[in-house]
Amino acid sequence: MRRSSATIFFAVLSFSLLLYISISNTTPRFNFGNSAVDQVYSNYSAWHECLKKNISFYEGNPDGLWGNMWRGIKLCETINEMKGLFIGDYPNSDETKRHIVPKMQLPSVIITLGIGHDTGAEEKLIKGLPHGSEFFGADPMHEINENLYTKLPGKYFPFAVGDTAGFADASVLVNTTYMTKTVVNVDIIYFLKQLVRRDFIDDIWIDGEGAEYGLFDHFFNGGKFDQNGITICQFNIEIHAPDSLQKKLFHDFIFRLLKDKRYAIYRPVQGHHMRLFMLNFANEECVYKYIL
Ligand SMILES: *[C@@H]1O[C@H](CO)[C@@H](O)[C@H](O)[C@H]1NC(C)=O
Ligand SMILES: *[C@@H]1O[C@H](CO)[C@@H](O)[C@H](O)[C@H]1NC(C)=O
Ligand SMILES: *[C@@H]1O[C@H](CO)[C@@H](O)[C@H](O)[C@H]1NC(C)=O
Repeated sequence: MRRSSATIFFAVLSFSLLLYISISNTTPRFNFGNSAVDQVYSNYSAWHECLKKNISFYEGNPDGLWGNMWRGIKLCETINEMKGLFIGDYPNSDETKRHIVPKMQLPSVIITLGIGHDTGAEEKLIKGLPHGSEFFGADPMHEINENLYTKLPGKYFPFAVGDTAGFADASVLVNTTYMTKTVVNVDIIYFLKQLVRRDFIDDIWIDGEGAEYGLFDHFFNGGKFDQNGITICQFNIEIHAPDSLQKKLFHDFIFRLLKDKRYAIYRPVQGHHMRLFMLNFANEECVYKYIL
């Protein structure tokens, strides 16, 4: 008798422990505290369910996802739970960057990867940001870019930024055409930690002409940004016209972001390339500064 009630006791104890562990794993917001992330969690979940429902059909179908994902994003960015966001448009001569400006007067750190002879968007954004905000821009072609970026004022870096360091072929803008040139690449972690020396990035604009594919996994939970204590609140990314391997990388990127439940995706622009805007719902400071 004693023996069996002890068995039941331990069975119940280990079951509750398992239940607790599994709940805290699947729902990291299980504390009923007042954190900023908790406060936006149900709104984020509504967005997440909306997009998941719309694009799950394309799981395992990279071609289908590449061609159709924009429809789901356009649908889900208009739900009531997302109406409180004020995503601003910052056009330059051939595209539009997106940014949410902070509600309080806290300065921002903005990074441009790939300047492309055009700082029209940065010039508009800097006018709306609190005093003390900083701009850091990298582009392997220093002609024109260095002058434009320095005038913002911003700090200019004369190389490409990607997932690894070294010499690599890159598509770069020379005068008015894109050409393939061998350029110096600096890895993004070294760039942010040692050169920019900031670990809280308000927005990063990634225009890597293909280098972005190597950066996808940096954004994952437990990825290189997490490993290095780097927070990214917002990012604009141009995904360069993919071949079939790159469509698969893109597919895996999107479904992993959904699994991670950190970023929401908005403002798709679909052409040969795709442009997306992402917002971090899982970091306290980002949520306070941009969502609440
Ligand atoms: C996804 O949303 C688009 C745009 O509203 C709609 O046309 C399409 O039928 C939806 N797909 C699914 C599977 O819900
Ligand atoms: C959350 O969603 C509600 C609608 O359900 C909306 O009124 C509110 O503004 C949203 N909150 C934020 C922080 O976006
Ligand atoms: C770019 O323009 C400059 C000045 O017009 C010219 O000297 C140079 O040869 C051009 N470069 C290329 C690669 O076309």
